[in-house]
Amino acid sequence: MTKLGEMLKETTAFLKEKGVGEVDFGLILGSGLGELADEVEDAIAIPFSEVPHFAVSTVVGHAGKLVYGTLSGKKVLAMQGRFHYYEGHSMQKVTYPVRVMAAMGAHSLVVTNAAGGVNENFTPGNLMLITDHINFTGDNPLIGENDEAMGPRFPDMSHAYTPAYFEIAKKVAKEQNVPLQEGVYMGYSGPTYETPAEIRMSRVMGADAVGMSTVSEVIVAAHSGLKVLGISCITNLAAGMQSSLNHAEVVETTERVKAQFKELIKATLAE
Ligand code: HPA
Repeated sequence: MTKLGEMLKETTAFLKEKGVGEVDFGLILGSGLGELADEVEDAIAIPFSEVPHFAVSTVVGHAGKLVYGTLSGKKVLAMQGRFHYYEGHSMQKVTYPVRVMAAMGAHSLVVTNAAGGVNENFTPGNLMLITDHINFTGDNPLIGENDEAMGPRFPDMSHAYTPAYFEIAKKVAKEQNVPLQEGVYMGYSGPTYETPAEIRMSRVMGADAVGMSTVSEVIVAAHSGLKVLGISCITNLAAGMQSSLNHAEVVETTERVKAQFKELIKATLAE
């Protein structure tokens, strides 16, 4: 067995010991969006720090635990908080939890984040369905030897975000009267916010939103054969489109729209 296979064996054995059973959906809850995990029924919560082979997350607004249980009638394994590349973790470390979700039997990943709006039609507080991404991090979690048991050497990214899930999310948003934008998420490494020139470049390249997460996780999800639903919370307009940027604003905006966000995800999961 490969090193990765050995690690997953240890992590999944640990989780099963803790009472984690079958998983339908993996959930990654980004900056300020972790409260959804508090609504998981019959929850088993495990701090990341206790999980074998997990890194330790350090960002304000990220609680840092795994929550297993039932949400909207589905078995979910949720990450309240996530690991970021800018924290100094390798992309393999950042995406290891997605490997764990797949190893626990998840068929789908719901990935969420806070993002800056690049599309001029967006306003802070909008939710955006991620239809595709641009990996602009300069790295890729699949670089290195490929474990054929996990997935192919050259994964197809043509449908990394599952089109069938777009329709469900859009229908639910309409029913809930939540304006749901859609677009392309461009992933930067961070931790700096982008410069105005980088944002102009991003727009020309086809980005609608920018952020510091998600793309590596979705690459591993694609490698693992997971279906993906991605939702961004547009917390601010990107650099050059407003006077300045700060993390407090990102947290404030997620606070403001988290109720909408939670209802959208829950109803989409139910469907
Ligand atoms: N840029 C990058 N990441 C972000 C932003 C942004 O403007 N807002 C929230 N996360």
